[in-house]
Amino acid sequence: MKVTIVRAGNVGAACAQRILEGDLADVYLVDVVEGLAKGKALDLAQAAPLVRHRRRIEGGEDYAGAEGSDLVVITAGVPRKPGMSRDDLLSVNGRIVIEVCHALRQVVPEAIVIMVANPLDVTTHLAAQVYQAPRERVLGMAGGLDTARYQTFIAWEVGCAPHEVEALVLGGHGDSMVPLPRLTKVRNVPLGELLSPEKIAAIVERTRNGGAEIVSYLKTGSAYYAPSAAAADIVRAVVRDEHRVIPCSVRLEGEYDLEGVFLGVPCRIGRRGVEEIVELPLNEEELAAVHVSAQHVRDTVAAWEALQQGQGDLC
Ligand code: NAI
Ligand code: 2OP
Repeated sequence: MKVTIVRAGNVGAACAQRILEGDLADVYLVDVVEGLAKGKALDLAQAAPLVRHRRRIEGGEDYAGAEGSDLVVITAGVPRKPGMSRDDLLSVNGRIVIEVCHALRQVVPEAIVIMVANPLDVTTHLAAQVYQAPRERVLGMAGGLDTARYQTFIAWEVGCAPHEVEALVLGGHGDSMVPLPRLTKVRNVPLGELLSPEKIAAIVERTRNGGAEIVSYLKTGSAYYAPSAAAADIVRAVVRDEHRVIPCSVRLEGEYDLEGVFLGVPCRIGRRGVEEIVELPLNEEELAAVHVSAQHVRDTVAAWEALQQGQGDLC
């Protein structure tokens, strides 16, 4: 299979590396900055004998190179700086994402689209508007990353391997995301039996601030090692047709009592993209938190639409 990664920035280049080294697919890297994608692709290609993969990678400025791609991963857009929220990126990244999706749609209209640019749920909404693809084929990467952060913080407290923590984080990729301690287990033991409510609350809060914590250290950009791993994890589930459940942002059509909003929910991912949306047995409080998160996404979409009214509709 072939994956096009749009932009050879931090997340894009790291994602390319993970896809190649995981022997998942051939890669085409595209960036507007002259020479950037070509140079990084050449560098990644020359690592092949050392890391022993057989995959091909090419880079360029032209979307024509995306032809034949089964998947596209969109990392185009500016990252956060300290003090910024993901929503602060909307006016810039919304336009970038729309432009990119129009260009991709000409070349690979049938590809599965994995959105990465922030604010994630809104950029995924915009990509779906432009792409006009069935909802199975346009999804946003964030829940996998937020869940991985949550698992890591729990593992540090409990003293286990992060992958031994069974957990899911739902909702939008922002301050209103919804970690689910009640449904979290470590080696089949409920989290509430292992950690105090105070410890759990602190982990939930740290997870919500997981991206901002890294921005505060890096200062000039945002996280990319775990984000690229989370994007490559979705690619893996598609190319290997794993039918694995990964929280992704997808358009809800009645699930969780929500309609027409993109939000992070557990999705079964396989060769066709989203094969199923898994509805967890949430209690009233958890469902209310998911709805608060959905309202935040709706408000941000409305803010974007209001912004466009003065500037001509871009979609
Ligand atoms: P980066 O700055 O390293 O790379 C961004 C790329 O976008 C660059 O290659 C640049 O050429 C391109 N770009 C910037 N402005 C552009 C413009 N006006 N037109 C066309 N292309 C432009 O950023 P990084 O760290 O790779 O992050 C990329 C995006 O992914 C950001 O929006 C960031 O917030 C988001 N992100 C989302 C995550 C998630 O969980 N969904 C996790 C990590 C990052
Ligand atoms: C993160 O959570 C920047 O959204 C990105 O690290």
